[in-house]
Amino acid sequence: MSRIVTVNNQAIAEAAEIIKSGGLVGMPTETVYGLAGNARDGAAVAKIYEAKGRPAFNPLIVHVPSAAAAAEIAEMDDRARNLASAFWPGPLTLVLARRADAGISELATAGLDTVAVRVPDHKIARALITAAGVPLVAPSANKSGSLSPTTPSHVADGLGDGANMILADGACRVGLESTVVDLSGDVPFILRPGAITAEEVSRVLGVDVALASENDVNPKSPGMLLKHYAPDAPVRLNAIDLEAGEALLAFGSIKFMGVKGGGAAADLPETQIRNLSEDGDLHEAAANLFAMLKDLDRAEHSKIAVMTVPENGLGVAINDRLRRAAQAG
Ligand code: TXA
Ligand code: MG
Repeated sequence: MSRIVTVNNQAIAEAAEIIKSGGLVGMPTETVYGLAGNARDGAAVAKIYEAKGRPAFNPLIVHVPSAAAAAEIAEMDDRARNLASAFWPGPLTLVLARRADAGISELATAGLDTVAVRVPDHKIARALITAAGVPLVAPSANKSGSLSPTTPSHVADGLGDGANMILADGACRVGLESTVVDLSGDVPFILRPGAITAEEVSRVLGVDVALASENDVNPKSPGMLLKHYAPDAPVRLNAIDLEAGEALLAFGSIKFMGVKGGGAAADLPETQIRNLSEDGDLHEAAANLFAMLKDLDRAEHSKIAVMTVPENGLGVAINDRLRRAAQAG
């Protein structure tokens, strides 16, 4: 069971060290408790998905101390600046174009070119972000599919030992997740209703902002709201050898893999091959997945051939994403 620690300065310093060394902390916010990790550390992000038991990699919210810090990660336009000055710190999340130099793990944004950011209105959350000195990804600290936790014991009961430490600060003030507003396109949408209402958002933006599923300008069903990253190159799964012209996304040893027509996969040029994890480590593979798919997604590659990834633990989410990529092609 994760250690529940009453918040004081020493506990925050300890939690910050856990974050800096790649661990996870149960973090109180004004909305719900989050399971926080370093947004720049792909292996830490992989641990979050594992602890939550998510069968798929959905992008996570990046928590920052200020609007200025958000602007280092995402492109803040006038709409974003206006919403930020009206509601930050507070229960509002903005989906924005991700800056090229954002330095956020590709796994945290599930390979998308957008990023969700928010500035929490909670003393402890802000103290932890500041002490850790890095942006924190923090999905609600519950198992996937169960209720969001609003007390420290919910976190401990739900996640078992999934967090290295839980910072306890009583019940969350809002008790409902943040409102997610998509500003990545010309028409703003609410992707997830939450503590801040559509009317409040509309008033600040000066236009009617609808829940995405109800918007008839750009109809999307709720299950389809989230865009998924997929490479342009076709993806071929369960490859045991390579066709000439294919790039290889390997998992484990490639010692015995050949290229049809002659040659060994191991002798391919550096641009044509990536290994998710030479040791067959699923955490490492998850952390590398999106960045390596992008590296190999080049017009000169006829396909991206992917070796089999075992269907257990994080492999379930990795395979979910690889199958989607194979279907999209
Ligand atoms: O109140 C909250 O927002 C809590 C506390 C801990 O801050 N966090 C939270 O995170 O609810 P999570 O990961 O459970 O929810 C993230 C939501 C999901 O609905 C996800 O699809 C959406 O934000 N999201 C994140 N990044 C996105 C992106 N790039 N594009 C579209 N939606 C995104
Ligand atoms: Mg959640």
